[in-house]
Amino acid sequence: MTLHQNDNRCLIKEKWKDIQYRQGKWQDFSVIFSALWREKMNITGAFSPQYFVIAYLPKDELDVLLGFGQIKPINERARKLASLYVYPEYRNCGIGSAIVGQLLSREKARLSGVDGEIYLTCLSRSELFYNKLGFTSVSIDSSIPFSMRLEHYLGSALTKLIEPNEKVLVMRKCLQANSE
Ligand SMILES: CC(C)(COP(=O)(O)OP(=O)(O)OC[C@H]1O[C@@H](n2cnc3c(N)ncnc32)[C@H](O)[C@@H]1OP(=O)(O)O)[C@@H](O)C(=O)NCCC(=O)NCCS
Repeated sequence: MTLHQNDNRCLIKEKWKDIQYRQGKWQDFSVIFSALWREKMNITGAFSPQYFVIAYLPKDELDVLLGFGQIKPINERARKLASLYVYPEYRNCGIGSAIVGQLLSREKARLSGVDGEIYLTCLSRSELFYNKLGFTSVSIDSSIPFSMRLEHYLGSALTKLIEPNEKVLVMRKCLQANSE
């Protein structure tokens, strides 16, 4: 079982080379669920731990959990990046970007020769973060999967109520099966 413990950023930067990644499992459910709940993120994401990549620092007894994220299938070519989360004390150390990098390279290996598209929804305040990772905002039309349009409409309605200054964006990145 992996637990989250307090640490500090300098320590994480020093230990950067020791960070490891593993696939999520059902035992991670409650840890993922409570982090998403606290951050007011979509808790339904926690119900598919097998799609998660977990970043951690190995320790003798209890590993230190740093963050996680998942990519799950929408259809044959399209995938969805979701539930990206880094514990507050470890943010801005590159861990969020590294988790996305891990997820993308694992997905690329799975595509086996077919080009794919990775979609996500986010608030406008996170646009720059995803731009740096190669995602661009797309218009909401029939070219994007129905489930992403639905998520955009529902998310926009909710966001108007709770964060009226933010917009919900759908972003996309093309994943070429045989590229680096
Ligand atoms: C978003 C999140 C995963 C980023 O993780 P992180 O480990 O802090 O990100 P990184 O250190 O890899 O950041 C890389 C860059 O993005 C910037 N960045 C980080 N979070 C950002 C945000 N929310 N908006 C804009 N830029 C952001 C960093 O300043 C850094 O910029 P730099 O390379 O120019 O220094 C983390 O802030 C988090 O868990 N937030 C709460 C949950 C959340 O909002 N998840 C995303 C849902 S769509």
